[in-house]
Amino acid sequence: MAEQKTQENVMKSQQKCIAVFGLLCCFAVLIALIFSSVDVWGEDEGITEENCSSKCRIVLVENIPEEMDLSPVDEGTLPLTVGLHGLLDMAKRSVEIVSPRWTLTSREQQTDHFSASEGQRLFERLLGLKSRRVKLKVATSLTDSAELTTLAAHGAEVRYVNTTALTKGHLHSSFWVVDRRHIYIGSASMDWRSLAKMKELGVILYNCSCLALDLHRVFSFYWQLHYKDYIPSIWSKRVTALYSRDDPLLVHLNDSDTNVYMSTSPDLFCPKGRTRDVEAIHRVIQEAERFIYVSVTDYLPLVNRSSRGLHVTRYWSAIDEGLREALVLRRVSVRLLVSLWERTHPYTFNFVSSLTTLCLQLMDCNLEVKFFSADEGYHRHDEGLNHNKYMVTDNALYIGNLDWVGNDFAFNAGTGLVIKPIRGQRHLDSGPSVLDQMKAAFERDWFSQYAKSLQEVTTQTGRALKTATLSRVERERQTAA
Ligand SMILES: *[C@@H]1O[C@H](CO)[C@@H](O)[C@H](O)[C@H]1NC(C)=O
Ligand SMILES: *[C@@H]1O[C@H](CO)[C@@H](O)[C@H](O)[C@H]1NC(C)=O
Ligand SMILES: *[C@@H]1O[C@H](CO)[C@@H](O)[C@H](O)[C@H]1NC(C)=O
Ligand SMILES: *[C@@H]1O[C@H](CO)[C@@H](O)[C@H](O)[C@H]1NC(C)=O
Ligand SMILES: *[C@@H]1O[C@H](CO)[C@@H](O)[C@H](O)[C@H]1NC(C)=O
Repeated sequence: MAEQKTQENVMKSQQKCIAVFGLLCCFAVLIALIFSSVDVWGEDEGITEENCSSKCRIVLVENIPEEMDLSPVDEGTLPLTVGLHGLLDMAKRSVEIVSPRWTLTSREQQTDHFSASEGQRLFERLLGLKSRRVKLKVATSLTDSAELTTLAAHGAEVRYVNTTALTKGHLHSSFWVVDRRHIYIGSASMDWRSLAKMKELGVILYNCSCLALDLHRVFSFYWQLHYKDYIPSIWSKRVTALYSRDDPLLVHLNDSDTNVYMSTSPDLFCPKGRTRDVEAIHRVIQEAERFIYVSVTDYLPLVNRSSRGLHVTRYWSAIDEGLREALVLRRVSVRLLVSLWERTHPYTFNFVSSLTTLCLQLMDCNLEVKFFSADEGYHRHDEGLNHNKYMVTDNALYIGNLDWVGNDFAFNAGTGLVIKPIRGQRHLDSGPSVLDQMKAAFERDWFSQYAKSLQEVTTQTGRALKTATLSRVERERQTAA
């Protein structure tokens, strides 16, 4: 009898245990659900998707090195430093920055006081944010940046993303989100050279909280990877995309209705709904009707892959094929402006000349390639380097953080912005659109003394660059002609 009773008791307490455990589980799941839909990180800026603003202003910002003989395309564009300082003037609550470099006050600059001072000035402004009670947040993949250590000591929150572990690359994204209202995106990073010696181009969108909320989600994505060496398999709602290639945001951009969305790289860094950079580029190329102008530092359709422990370099067709289709099948004119500098891969010449031979004996098939270099010697590191990374077509614009190199898209984290005005929505008296400005900036560079034809480059710099590759290109050219 007694034995039976104790057995009953044991069973009862086991059942209780199970019930309590079940309840605990439910509770945990509930907590997880609540946390995943509420912004647990820091202050809410009081703007939600329901009441965000999509009446935006856009301004093109450029850094043109002083010694370069190029002028701004339009009085509506701003020098990069003026644009960034303006954003800091406006900041009331938060400034979120992602940058591949933090060398605003690097030591090498001391040989060159004047051009360095812009970097120093911006760094001091960032240090001063704390006294205005503006929160500075930085996501980075740099471990040894003295500047970030200094900023952190002055109240900035710095979070480390181990891209080495996650993607085998680097965080090359370069953007600002200010008060979840204004954004900057472009080629310039937090490097004194970007404010002085290199040619940079970007855009600032003001009062554009709907888009800023989405870019903030990209930032939050990096933020939550702090010291993680894996990517969570379930995404928090806070980091999934609000808008995409197939579901863009409609904004009123300087008085004309325009579709916009953000894209990111690499694939691993694209949570649910987020358009990949390559998809965005592909779509913009596909929808071009008359012309495609591309300005990038490097163009190389190659990627390193490792399979079964072996490292192999493969042809990477993602962008190349889009251009080929546009050229041959749709007869869209393509202009490719690539930089010529010490890191130009010798195969660049082979791949671009292969594109040029594609149009052989085809009417209205038109591809031109030019190389941009401010330096006749082609050996200096980044003096006068054209660091731009954008594409403008007759109906859209893509501005990104990555060069058109397979390895960049495969391993490095970057972001892109697509702007596509809705046809027939512009008033004729509303001045040049951002597409017009971007096209004018491209043409200014293209027709400048710094842009050299493929032939000029292959003959003049034969000695400075890898002679073997170049003479092969030259031979191909001659046989083609
Ligand atoms: C937007 O809505 C949120 C909550 O719904 C509110 O707290 C916030 O004040 C609103 N912001 C504006 C600018 O209306
Ligand atoms: C948009 O409006 C702003 C402010 O009025 C102006 O500075 C800028 O040049 C305009 N942008 C374009 C592309 O017209
Ligand atoms: C980043 O990840 C790599 C590979 O997992 C590891 O060796 C390295 O120590 C990590 N870096 C930091 C700063 O945690
Ligand atoms: C942004 O909006 C505010 C208030 O609506 C306005 O005062 C300000 O001039 C706008 N800024 C720009 C750059 O359009
Ligand atoms: C990776 O690819 C580049 C070409 O993009 C090549 O020069 C380099 O040697 C490759 N590296 C490895 C480790 O395979």
